[in-house]
Amino acid sequence: MSDTETMQVVYRSDYRPPTFWIDHVELEFDLDPHNAIVTTKITVRRNTDQPSRTLELVGEQLKLLSVSVDGVALNDDEYTASSDLLVLNDLPARCEVQTKVAISPVTNKALSGLYQTSGNFCTQCEAVGFRRITYFLDRPDVMARYQVTIRGDKSTCPVMLSNGNRIASQDLGDGRHEVVWEDPHVKPCYLFALVAGNLKCHRGSFTTASGRDVALEIWVEPQNIDKCQHALVSLQKSMKWDEDVFGLEYDLDVYMIVAVNDFNMGAMENKGLNVFNSKYVLASPETATDDDYLLIEAVIAHEYFHNWTGNRVTCRDWFQLTLKEGLTVFRDEQFTADQTSAAVKRIDDVAGLRAGQFAEDSGPMAHPIRPESYISMDNFYTSTVYRKGAQIIRMYHTLLGQDGFRRGMDLYFRRHDGCAVTCDDFRQAMADANDTNFDLFDRWYSQAGTPELFVTSAWDESAGRLTLSMRQSYPDLAGDLPGTKDRKPVPLPIRVGLLDAESGAELSQYNDVLLLETESADFQFEGLDRQPIASVLRDFSAPVRLRMQRSDDELAFLMAHDTDAFNRWDAGQTLATGMLLKMAQQAADGQPLDEPKLFSDAFAKILTDDSVDEAFKALAITLPRESVLGQEMDVIDPDAIHTAREFFRRSVAGSHRDQLTALHQSLAADGPYSNDQQSINRRRLKNVVLAYLVSLDTPETDQIAADQFSGADNMTDQQAALAILANSNAEQRIAALDEFHRRYHGDPLVLDKWFAVQASSSRAGALSEVRRLSGHSGFTIDNPNRVRSLLGVFSVNQSVFHQADGKGYELLGDYVLLIQSGNPQLASRLVSAFNSYRRFDTGRQELMLRQLKRIASEPNLCKDVHEIVQRALK
Ligand code: PHE
Ligand code: ZN
Repeated sequence: MSDTETMQVVYRSDYRPPTFWIDHVELEFDLDPHNAIVTTKITVRRNTDQPSRTLELVGEQLKLLSVSVDGVALNDDEYTASSDLLVLNDLPARCEVQTKVAISPVTNKALSGLYQTSGNFCTQCEAVGFRRITYFLDRPDVMARYQVTIRGDKSTCPVMLSNGNRIASQDLGDGRHEVVWEDPHVKPCYLFALVAGNLKCHRGSFTTASGRDVALEIWVEPQNIDKCQHALVSLQKSMKWDEDVFGLEYDLDVYMIVAVNDFNMGAMENKGLNVFNSKYVLASPETATDDDYLLIEAVIAHEYFHNWTGNRVTCRDWFQLTLKEGLTVFRDEQFTADQTSAAVKRIDDVAGLRAGQFAEDSGPMAHPIRPESYISMDNFYTSTVYRKGAQIIRMYHTLLGQDGFRRGMDLYFRRHDGCAVTCDDFRQAMADANDTNFDLFDRWYSQAGTPELFVTSAWDESAGRLTLSMRQSYPDLAGDLPGTKDRKPVPLPIRVGLLDAESGAELSQYNDVLLLETESADFQFEGLDRQPIASVLRDFSAPVRLRMQRSDDELAFLMAHDTDAFNRWDAGQTLATGMLLKMAQQAADGQPLDEPKLFSDAFAKILTDDSVDEAFKALAITLPRESVLGQEMDVIDPDAIHTAREFFRRSVAGSHRDQLTALHQSLAADGPYSNDQQSINRRRLKNVVLAYLVSLDTPETDQIAADQFSGADNMTDQQAALAILANSNAEQRIAALDEFHRRYHGDPLVLDKWFAVQASSSRAGALSEVRRLSGHSGFTIDNPNRVRSLLGVFSVNQSVFHQADGKGYELLGDYVLLIQSGNPQLASRLVSAFNSYRRFDTGRQELMLRQLKRIASEPNLCKDVHEIVQRALK
């Protein structure tokens, strides 16, 4: 750790309002790559609730040039300053403080604060990057109005953008020019943004429900100008949806999105000037897959929705992050469900939640959706805060219905517009608007871990009564983790339905949402003629692990008949999981593996079922991920899981080879590329089917993939075929990889795919390939997308990363150390791959611990990585 950085722990319970408020901010930027000068004038007003005459402004790596109060330069004894703190004593109740600092964008590799990306200037301020630009009260409860003046070279910075409206511009005569921006809305400093450089604009417009015209501008590097239309249409759809569903209109005359190549996250909701990872903006059928298109639409929507849930109403402190993120993820999930298929969207989201969040919630980084403490806030942009947070919001929605939820949202905005508030404020608005009480929901905000829901059923033939007995509890977590002491039962809305055991028909009068608020309760269903089959936790109505004793036949029945698409899919996953775990045990014991007969039969039935769409079929026949299977084992055995899953796939493919070949052929016979929903669904199924076929490891099936690769007229089919070949022993594998590289090495986002398909391959020798690729001329640690494509993808490739000799751990350890000094945020994401070490055998534990200790002993370790590693080692 560098000596200027402090390893201070920040606690939620320590929140105090600021001693001063800031009403107005005037920023002036004189842009220069090495020596940018930032002049800041802030109008401050003493907070009468917190009387103090001392103002402490935080900074980070700043060079202070001058400071004055009310126009009078301060003498050295009237303030104390370091590169990260400026303390002003004896201030009057109101005054104007002016500071001048120098910063160096070109050497800023952390991508936080003001930095350069592809030669352009760009800022990132959430969570605490604004302090790397100027001394400030860098906390979200300080909301001010901003005016921003930018001066830069006309040649390198023809375009200079900031939040709000452009109110003036002038030529400065010396090859430089100046523009002035004003944002009429108050905002916290984390929503400030500046972008300057050589950019082109793709323009559109939107007319709001009340008839105001909004200019929509998508700013990209010149070569990408023809890849913006999908982003623009996504933005227009999002604006319309938020008006239709929540009555929320946009509130400025212009909405700008800028795409940049170097970005630590997905995108950022800066007021009126979103900055996006170019991955979530740029699309053409030749370079972006169907999944990319969908993600772009979802991320554009997410950032747009933040304008109300995040910007108009923001967080009081960073512990409240899920207030804006959980709510906004919930909103973008609902949006995507409305644009596509609610069932498929729900399945995709829950699969992601289980793979990522459930694992996080059972390891050393487990934390409540509203954490209690942090060293680096950047470490708490987690799937728990985002994804689990969204599930908590969904439960209010499930209990209140759309209308009740809308009433709660309306009241939330009526009470808190323009304010910085807490999760408690949100919960209270939801309750008050519906005359109900959500006090027990507080537990969801303060407890960590994934609850288990145990369900047993009892049938009383003579009474015609089914009883479902439910009990909830938390599994024990290793270590003394925050939010795991004295945990109490949480409110669980449990959507339940009954099916007739013979016909499979829905007994619709029994559809219900049950509420389990205590540790256990019985729920009764009366008046039944014969014993039904229960479908429990429909639509995944609560973020729990369902533990219900069900026979394989019952699961197969639900897989064939459940009218709830989520549970229909989940029954298949549960069935496959049980069989796979048994096979993994057989593999570990050196026994022959069972044939997956029951699943294989159900598999064939799904493929010919006309009542479901192709996207659902694709999901239903996709086996649970290796990492999800691992979570179900006492000690994760990555090799046995891999062997079992490969055998399972090959066996199913072998049993249905002709059907699969014919199906692939008919799906491949679709005409030229089209991006309507049905074509997208058909491509999705086609590519899952192709993976089954190629698992057979025959020249004929390899050739199907090779043909698809070379004949594809779109990136979806091409990338899928490449990924399948890269994971196979096909003799066409190398040629396809070379061809793809030759064609696309000039397009960074497509080159990322080339790295990613190889990093996700699990063929023998995959690990040394990843090591070799890290030395490839196209690899660089300065671009987060490239790092994630190779090392991020590899670190979740269970059987390869956890190779028993520890070479995978060593590779990751090397890169964590290499990256951490320049980009702490990126390094701390990577190092999190070691968080699961306690779940493996002692040999692997040792080897992972060796890397963790090696990283911990690095003398200049950044605080982001320090925090993750210390938690893991505790
Ligand atoms: N607030 C951004 C979002 O969720 C994420 C983000 C966090 C981006 C921190 C950059 C830095 O939309
Ligand atoms: Zn967000």
